[in-house]
Amino acid sequence: MRGKLVVVTGGTRGVGAGIARAFVGAGAEVVVCARRPPEVPVDGARFTAVDLRDPTAVHRFFAALPRLDVLVNNAGGSPYRPLADDTGTDIRRHARVIELNLTTPLTASLAAYEYLKRSRGAIVMIGSVSGARPSPGTAAYGAAKAGLEHLARSMAVEWAPYIRVNTLVLGMVRTELSHLHYGDEDGIAAVARTVPLGRLAEPSDIGEAAVFLASDAAAYITGASLLVHGGGERPAFLDAASANKQAVDEATSGAVDEAITGAVDEPAAGAATEVTGEPTRQATKGGEQG
Ligand SMILES: NC(=O)c1ccc[n+]([C@@H]2O[C@H](COP(=O)([O-])OP(=O)(O)OC[C@H]3O[C@@H](n4cnc5c(N)ncnc54)[C@H](OP(=O)(O)O)[C@@H]3O)[C@@H](O)[C@H]2O)c1
Repeated sequence: MRGKLVVVTGGTRGVGAGIARAFVGAGAEVVVCARRPPEVPVDGARFTAVDLRDPTAVHRFFAALPRLDVLVNNAGGSPYRPLADDTGTDIRRHARVIELNLTTPLTASLAAYEYLKRSRGAIVMIGSVSGARPSPGTAAYGAAKAGLEHLARSMAVEWAPYIRVNTLVLGMVRTELSHLHYGDEDGIAAVARTVPLGRLAEPSDIGEAAVFLASDAAAYITGASLLVHGGGERPAFLDAASANKQAVDEATSGAVDEAITGAVDEPAAGAATEVTGEPTRQATKGGEQG
């Protein structure tokens, strides 16, 4: 990334600061923007104040840059807010969430377009698993993130072969604000146990993935979505279902892993059907050979 100029929107804290740090670590010149300056500045990154909801300010921000190689559209988020709650059904509160998570990445991408076309650059959108599954409490946010991923795929086609556009689809990330979403340390630990990899992502995990998508190592990757969610969410019905309880418990405890890697030559009878009801390949050495 040496010699590259990278902009990370919302790069002052949380995920964005992790992304900014990773690009600085990869040798890039990094500019972060947000409404307020960072409480803890990222070493080696410059800060510029801009409200991404103001298109004039966004165009002014990009116009002041000498050039641009990478844009990371990271600024986003949402408070927990059921669609219709005690405080009413005012559309404007949801519209602001959609504006921040869908419209502002488009505003920034359009403002950066000429620069990125000239440099044969890359855009990385920061999406969320909330855009791919129901998102109760943050419905407008989930809808915006679904739209963002779609926008990225269309942009990738319209702006090829000059600009690559990809989305990182994040699961849960440990940030300064995690307690707002998951509660105290016990709450965060309980949430972490629901992730197959056993922990929330660190902002640095997201940063490394963003550097990869922006780098020449990903030169043939555009219009893609990369899940960075530690394995995602275990389907809730597996725990609720009364069928196949033993097989499910063994799979969860790792007993099946042992069977796969151990000296099991013959598949056990009945071990070939997942609880999804879909027939599957035998989860044993014998099955793989078959
Ligand atoms: N944390 C997670 O678990 C998680 C999971 C999935 C996806 N994500 C995604 O990752 C991204 C970052 O999330 P995060 O948790 O790091 O959020 P965060 O801690 O709330 O940080 C958001 C950043 O965006 C900036 N920002 C917000 N509104 C802005 C505006 N109108 N103009 C300019 N900057 C603005 C904030 O700075 P100012 O407030 O000073 O403007 C801050 O720098 C978001 O797109 C989020 O949807 C996060």
